[in-house]
Amino acid sequence: MHHEEQSRRVSHKLIIGALVSGRGTNLQQILDDVEAGRLHASVSVVISNCESAEAISRAKARGIPAIFIDPKTYASTEEYDGAVLDVLKTHAVELVVLAGYMKIVSSVLIEAYRNRMMNIHPSLLPAFSGLHAQRQALERGVKVSGCTVHFVVEEVDAGPVIMQAAVPVEEYDTEESLSARILEKEHQIFPKALQLYSDGRLQVIGCRVVIAEG
Ligand code: GRF
Repeated sequence: MHHEEQSRRVSHKLIIGALVSGRGTNLQQILDDVEAGRLHASVSVVISNCESAEAISRAKARGIPAIFIDPKTYASTEEYDGAVLDVLKTHAVELVVLAGYMKIVSSVLIEAYRNRMMNIHPSLLPAFSGLHAQRQALERGVKVSGCTVHFVVEEVDAGPVIMQAAVPVEEYDTEESLSARILEKEHQIFPKALQLYSDGRLQVIGCRVVIAEG
């Protein structure tokens, strides 16, 4: 590799696109880490399926294009995802993050971004997939839960695991208190997983993600 090409590659920032539906604290953490130089990436666009998502204002506050795409104006999830894909491509997105995205993603997006789309889930997968993972953990009585960053595959919450963090369940935890402690860990591991990707250190082998030494 020529020296010039090498330095261009090294200096190239990973271009991230985020899909959101709500509060957007994971997005906020990613934006903060980018701004502080802790995450070598840039967020080029944020897309929401929900017009009132707080995540939209968080993006706009940083001058990042934040676009609401209304699911009601599309006949199917595939058509909707086609519109999302167009926007992602327009903004040259290399890696998609699902940051509290509550809509099922179809094969239209999954195939276009195979092993280039990450989700964060508030449990130690494969335990407690689906909605209300923290409530499920409390109801099942586990003593440890946590969060998982994984690549997105067709089956919901089932893709190759990139990073996990454990959170002990305390005796008097409520759904709110457990969720809050898990969220703190989410904010730590999601940017870390993105940085690993950005550094080219993630290799997917079947269900496993091998992390190369840095
Ligand atoms: C998080 O708990 C995440 O694990 C789940 O949705 C929630 C999003 O929170 N996928 P926020 O919108 O990032 O604040």
